[in-house]
Order: sequence, then C-alpha cells, then structure tokens
Amino acid sequence: MMNPNKQQRRNLYFFFVFVFYVFILCARFQTSEATKDSSAQVKLQNRRLSSTVVFPVSGNVYPLGYYYVLLNIGNPPKLFDLDIDTGSDLTWVQCDAPCNGCTKPRAKQYKPNHNTLPCSHILCSGLDLPQDRPCADPEDQCDYEIGYSDHASSIGALVTDEVPLKLANGSIMNLRLTFGCGYDQQNPGPHPPPPTAGILGLGRGKVGLSTQLKSLGITKNVIVHCLSHTGKGFLSIGDELVPSSGVTWTSLATNSPSKNYMAGPAELLFNDKTTGVKGINVVFDSGSSYTYFNAEAYQAILDLIRKDLNGKPLTDTKDDKSLPVCWKGKKPLKSLDEVKKYFKTITLRFGNQKNGQLFQVPPESYLIITEKGRVCLGILNGTEIGLEGYNIIGDISFQGIMVIYDNEKQRIGWISSDCDKLPNVNHDYGGDLSEEAYPIGFGLIKELFSGSDSSKNKNLVSDGEL
Ligand SMILES: *[C@@H]1O[C@H](CO)[C@@H](O)[C@H](O)[C@H]1NC(C)=O
Ligand SMILES: *[C@@H]1O[C@H](CO)[C@@H](O)[C@H](O)[C@H]1NC(C)=O
Repeated sequence: MMNPNKQQRRNLYFFFVFVFYVFILCARFQTSEATKDSSAQVKLQNRRLSSTVVFPVSGNVYPLGYYYVLLNIGNPPKLFDLDIDTGSDLTWVQCDAPCNGCTKPRAKQYKPNHNTLPCSHILCSGLDLPQDRPCADPEDQCDYEIGYSDHASSIGALVTDEVPLKLANGSIMNLRLTFGCGYDQQNPGPHPPPPTAGILGLGRGKVGLSTQLKSLGITKNVIVHCLSHTGKGFLSIGDELVPSSGVTWTSLATNSPSKNYMAGPAELLFNDKTTGVKGINVVFDSGSSYTYFNAEAYQAILDLIRKDLNGKPLTDTKDDKSLPVCWKGKKPLKSLDEVKKYFKTITLRFGNQKNGQLFQVPPESYLIITEKGRVCLGILNGTEIGLEGYNIIGDISFQGIMVIYDNEKQRIGWISSDCDKLPNVNHDYGGDLSEEAYPIGFGLIKELFSGSDSSKNKNLVSDGEL
C-alpha cells in the first residue's frame, strides 16, 4: 500500500479527480468529432502536424544498453528519463512512497499526491498483468506488479497526473495520463539495475501511452521510433511522420495470445541465401538491447558466421565477457568499419518466398565493438533465457531505420532512415518554434540536433496518408 493511513482523504480527492478526468475525456471526444465534420479541416490539421507527439531520443546499445526519452510529469513538472519499451504496456516511474530498490535519489523520484487510480477504473482492470489482483473495494487503489523478461520487476500503484506533451506543431498540451508509481523495484539479474527513472510503455494494451493518447482523441495509435548508431534518434506517437511511400509493411499477428508487437512467421536468410530455418515468430521490442533468436536459428547463424570467419584475421576469444560470443583481431579494434567486411547480412523474410517483406540486419546491426576492442555478436540465444519459441528484434537491429508500429491497421513497417536528425516539422510547417518554446524536457533538442541540416529531411514528412 502506498499511503495506508490516508485512505479516507485519498478516496475523496480521487473522486474529484475522476470526475474531472471524465470531463476532459468528453471534451476531447467532442473536439475530434467536430473536426471530422469537415474533411478539409482534417487535412489542414494534418498538414500542420497538430496531432503527433515527438520526443528526441538518446542512448545506445553498448555500453548503455537502452535508448530513452525525457518526459515531464506533474505540476510543477519534473523531468524523468524513461527507457522506451514497445515490449510492455505500462509506463512507470520510481516513486517516493517511500521506495525500495530505486536508483534515483528521492528528489528525482515521483511524489504521489493522493492521485491513485481506484481498482475499479477501466485502466486498472485492463492492466492484463501476470498476477491479476482482486478488487475487493472499488475505491481501493489500483496496485500493479510487472515483471520483465530479464527478471527485473516493479511493484506500485497506478496514478494519474498532468503530463505536458509537445505536439509536432509546437503546441504544448497538458494531458492527464495514467502511469505507475513504482515503489518496489527488484533486479535479480546479473546486470546492474538500469539508471533510468522508469519505463515508457508503448505496448498495445489499454494503458499503453499511445493507446491512452488515442482514446483522448489526441493522436492516432501509431508509434514511430528511429534509433541512430551515434546515440540519437526520435520517437513519435501519431501517424504524421510516417513516410507515404517506401515503407515495408508486414501484418501484426492479431490472434497471438500476447499483447506484443509480433510478426511472422518469417524465414531466416544469411547472405541472401536460405538457412533452412523457417517459421520464426518475431517480437519487435525496443526495450531489449540485443536481438534474440531461438536455439535453432541461433545455432544456424553462429555456424554460418564461424564458417565465414575461417581464414580471416579474427579469432574466437573468451577474454571479453561483454557478450557470450566475441572475436579478436591482431590489434584491439576501434570501429566496426575495420571488420564488417568479414560479416554478411542476415535477413528475416516475412510473407511468402516470391514477394515477401525483407527485414535486413547488416553487420553493424548485429555486432558491437567492446571497450576492450573485441567484436562481439549482438544476437543472443533466446532459448537460454526462457523465450522458448519466440524471437526478439531489439535495439541493436533497429539502428538506422524508422520502425512504425501501426495499431490502426495492425501492421508493422520499417524504412531505412537517418535517425541522427529530428524530422524538422516546425520548419516545414511554419509553426514558429524557437528552442525556448520547448519546456525543459525538450532542451535536449538543442543539444542533440544542433548543426543537423534538417532541410534534407523533408521526405520524412508524410502527407497524412493514414
Ligand atoms: C497545434 O495543434 C493543437 C491540436 O490540434 C491545436 O490546439 C493548436 O492550436 C495547434 N498549435 C499551433 C501553433 O498551430
Ligand atoms: C541455446 O540455449 C539452449 C538452452 O539453454 C541450449 O540447449 C543450446 O545449446 C544453446 N545454443 C547454443 C548454440 O549455445
């Protein structure tokens, strides 16, 4: 329990918040209904990119292991760095309730303010978490417990609070969103706990950020991320940055029991040739740093890579524990450019053999150079960590492409892209957006994207096709 001795007061306050929330909800729906009346107006709004939220992203696969955005929460707003995760629904932040297992000092934790959600709320019943908790009294706070595939977990309660979000047209909207206040984090795995303040949940469930924005009538339920090899990128919610052509689309498995973004089955190719491995189901998961193949696919790829490296100046080494499989050169390696010529492209072919959809993973999207100067395989054995038949495409293989999770049309798409540059929607669309117009959370834009010539980036802007 987060705040057991203040139960009474919290419930009263909460009733008020709930009414207010419903009111906002109605207001939003009315607005979106109104714009539907005139298709010309809708088109104009699309042109002005008024219903897409954009975040600059930073992070890397190695050594950091994640990509994150900065999100302002509360009034006055406080800034939280959140790991972007398309593999789970719930957004949560470290919570001063007080907190067990928090990595942030108290001043950087979220302080709940009698704003818990009751367990009877639709977002609580729709949590779909492994342990469905009973809701004895409908006014009880909504507790959650979430576990991740790396065995990390968070326990807390759902709260609603103001989240100022910047739309792509430059306006800042103060929305009330639901997220978890996580006061008990466990991290039993071999790796240190992630230093971020929490997770940005972008999964398909009701409580996912994109689903919430959609139900408030703010954006389409479409998520785009673009992660660069150099530690930058962007994340958007809404469909307005989706290119109108050139995207390879494959359908999402809708009948799968999981709420994940799963596609397949796919066939595994190496150097454009069949490997004999078929029927691969793939989960697109930005919360995973590396890519995981099931034991069969993993073995096949490992054998093919090792065969290729025969007679090349790279030898197996166990002197680097960064990842399970590493090679060393004659001298410590500084960059992938020195060795990528010894490796081939791996391809997942979705759909049929003749005109399937190809997801290509070039060497720079499955290898890392470690601090010791070794080159290591960023594809890991999923069977070993209990993924059973599933396969995961993680951040390492998302670098340099725009990945589009289209929940409106139940499909997932990708297109190669220069993710170092934030698509300059303001410049193109006349929204007068000096850097000062961004709240502190977007100060990063200046840092990350200064000097980038975004005028070359116009092709990223769609004409509102969806
Ligand atoms: C941006 O879009 C929002 C939502 O449609 C609208 O309320 C706001 O006025 C727009 N801002 C600008 C600068 O056009
Ligand atoms: C992958 O993991 C499974 C389960 O632990 C194991 O049986 C298999 O040998 C592993 N494959 C390789 C190539 O290490």
